[in-house]
Amino acid sequence: MAISFNQEKQFFHLSNDSISYIIGIEKETFLCHRYFGKAIKNFTGNLDFPVTTGAFSVTPFPEDPHFSPHTRLLETSTNTSGDFRVPNYQIRNEAGKTVTDFRYHSYQIKKGKKPLSGLPSLRGNEEEGTTLEILLVDTIQNLHMTLVYSLYEKAPIITRHIIFENHGKNTIFLENAGSMMMDLPESDYELITLYGSHANEAHLSREKLRPGINRIESTRGTSSPQYQPFLGLSEKETTQFSGEITGFHFVYSGNFVAQVEKTQYQTSRVQIGIHPDTFDWRLLPNESFTTPEVVLNYSNKGFNGLSQNFHQIYQKHLAPESFKDTQRPILLNSWEGNYFDFTTDSLLKQIKKAADLGIELFVLDDGWFGKRNDDHSSLGDWFVNTDKLPGGLEKIAKAVHDQTMQFGIWFEPEMISRESDLHKKHPDWALHVTPYPSLESRSQLVLDLSRIEVQDYIIESLSKHLETGTIDYVKWDMNRHLSEVGNDQLEATRQKEISHRYVLGLYHILEVLTQRFPAVLFENCSSGGGRFDPGMMYYMPQTWTSDNTDALCRSQIQYGYSFLYPPIMMGAHVSDVPNHQVGRITPLNTRGYLAMSGNFGYENNLNQLSETDQTVIKEQIAFYKAHRKLFQFGHFYRLLDPTSTFATSWLFADENEVFVVYFHGLSQPSAETIFLKLHYLDENATYEDNKTKVVYSGSELNQIGLVVRGAREDFHTTTFHLKKL
Ligand code: DGJ
Repeated sequence: MAISFNQEKQFFHLSNDSISYIIGIEKETFLCHRYFGKAIKNFTGNLDFPVTTGAFSVTPFPEDPHFSPHTRLLETSTNTSGDFRVPNYQIRNEAGKTVTDFRYHSYQIKKGKKPLSGLPSLRGNEEEGTTLEILLVDTIQNLHMTLVYSLYEKAPIITRHIIFENHGKNTIFLENAGSMMMDLPESDYELITLYGSHANEAHLSREKLRPGINRIESTRGTSSPQYQPFLGLSEKETTQFSGEITGFHFVYSGNFVAQVEKTQYQTSRVQIGIHPDTFDWRLLPNESFTTPEVVLNYSNKGFNGLSQNFHQIYQKHLAPESFKDTQRPILLNSWEGNYFDFTTDSLLKQIKKAADLGIELFVLDDGWFGKRNDDHSSLGDWFVNTDKLPGGLEKIAKAVHDQTMQFGIWFEPEMISRESDLHKKHPDWALHVTPYPSLESRSQLVLDLSRIEVQDYIIESLSKHLETGTIDYVKWDMNRHLSEVGNDQLEATRQKEISHRYVLGLYHILEVLTQRFPAVLFENCSSGGGRFDPGMMYYMPQTWTSDNTDALCRSQIQYGYSFLYPPIMMGAHVSDVPNHQVGRITPLNTRGYLAMSGNFGYENNLNQLSETDQTVIKEQIAFYKAHRKLFQFGHFYRLLDPTSTFATSWLFADENEVFVVYFHGLSQPSAETIFLKLHYLDENATYEDNKTKVVYSGSELNQIGLVVRGAREDFHTTTFHLKKL
């Protein structure tokens, strides 16, 4: 059995071939963390519980004054009752009191993994996982807290979330409802996070844990580009290729906090959940509250090992069923090549050219609706601008389909422009706190997705387009963060529920639309990676990675995101040079290989493309099509960390072939020769270089490596394509 309970020694052991997670019950009361890491084949339960000593301890057991929750490694905090570390929850009752006393009550072990009500979560059927539910009860107020753990049979992955239930007679308020907490016996860790900003996402940070609280967070209403809702704890020695790391990734798209407290006794407390600063949930008698899920991932094979675990579990168990095994089309997106400046004729010309080049999906981005000729108006008015596009979307869709290509369009459904018919009709639909003015960002306001009529409006206005059957793809954009979060509908004690209700409203809309139109491919976008998180990935199997399409910047951004997401989930497009975001000129070949290292597409204006570029693009597309399976479903491994000259390298491998990308960054005089060890080839196989036909053994490529000589060109890319013999 994957999850067992030892009655005599009072411990739970969740284990599969690669990992163990062990929880003990002490004094029939406290749920204590005992272990998470490499599988323990035989846990006897005879080892002492890890305990720290400490003066000033508060104890619930007068006969044992040294026993205190503060000196225990716990699975959930006891805050208000003698645990002084960062809490996982906080409950206030009608009298304003915040003391609670949750104690172990009972457990259940169930086959499979149930979906979370109203929230995205990893999927799993009865054979794929087992679930442990541990119930803690506060008998004084009759409150229940159920800690839920699901273990995958064949992956080093456990998910956790919590259900709070009010079985008492009075209303309670969840001021903080964390999704997971776990105390580790050590603290000599390095903290791994991904930070960034618009067009500059996913930088890797690796820092020694410092005493006190080490925290990342978002209060922007979305997970945001500022921090990915992820943290990892690694050893000092961990590299891309070896060493231990544990990752925690939050399946949520709104405000969050993820923190590690290095305690005064050199232990570590990991805590992740909805951000308590913008949250306060009223729970009436007999109501329950389910927190979002956290994915726990353990690897002793370095950062690449951790990434492999995430890539596989997300592709198999997070991406929507209808797309997890489906090849993705090569697209042309109209944005960077046209912005708002297009007509039916100019588009039809580009569509014809796209088809000649071998492109498979044409996406009409922003500017096709209402009176939208710049970004000042019309969000919310989702009807086609026939002055600009005579013949409507039908004419364009028909031209696209006649070329046997697919047709996609852009929406920004969560927004409303002041200058729009929708705003004239429903000025109160934007988030607002009377009498303060609602502030604009990119000349737009945010629709209040906590309101059912707003959810219905979005569902119906998009459905009208999708019901025509002419739209194969939707780019779902979201280009600002939330301010003036409030409305005049909900009573005072529920105003701090709105941030979370917004996210629940969004998930509801996405659930309805993706169920109603399962064949439509949805791409997530928030000015690029502004809401690139596992919650969105549950509904939309790919994300526009960044508004920055410069090859050099992309080498870093895609490197960062690859810690968590497989290339098929990261939109990456070749665009014109000088690059529109940074003005850099990079070779078309390099732009091509960087884009092929993600979900491949183009953003050029094809009407302005030179003959030479058209030839190169044709070759790129033909090459990608011939090896699409490798790029979209092969294993992806990072070979080099980006260096000071920006060089970096990675490889794709499947059972038949290997493709190595060495991106060289800035060229140097007397450049060193690189011996690029491939690390992940089959040691017992031989490989033939497609260009030179030279044959190498897998073990020599792994241990000695290919020779890469310095190129006399900035931003040059060297590639190797090897066939497994
Ligand atoms: C931001 C997106 O990231 C871009 O790709 C583009 O769709 C614009 N919005 C359109 O307004």
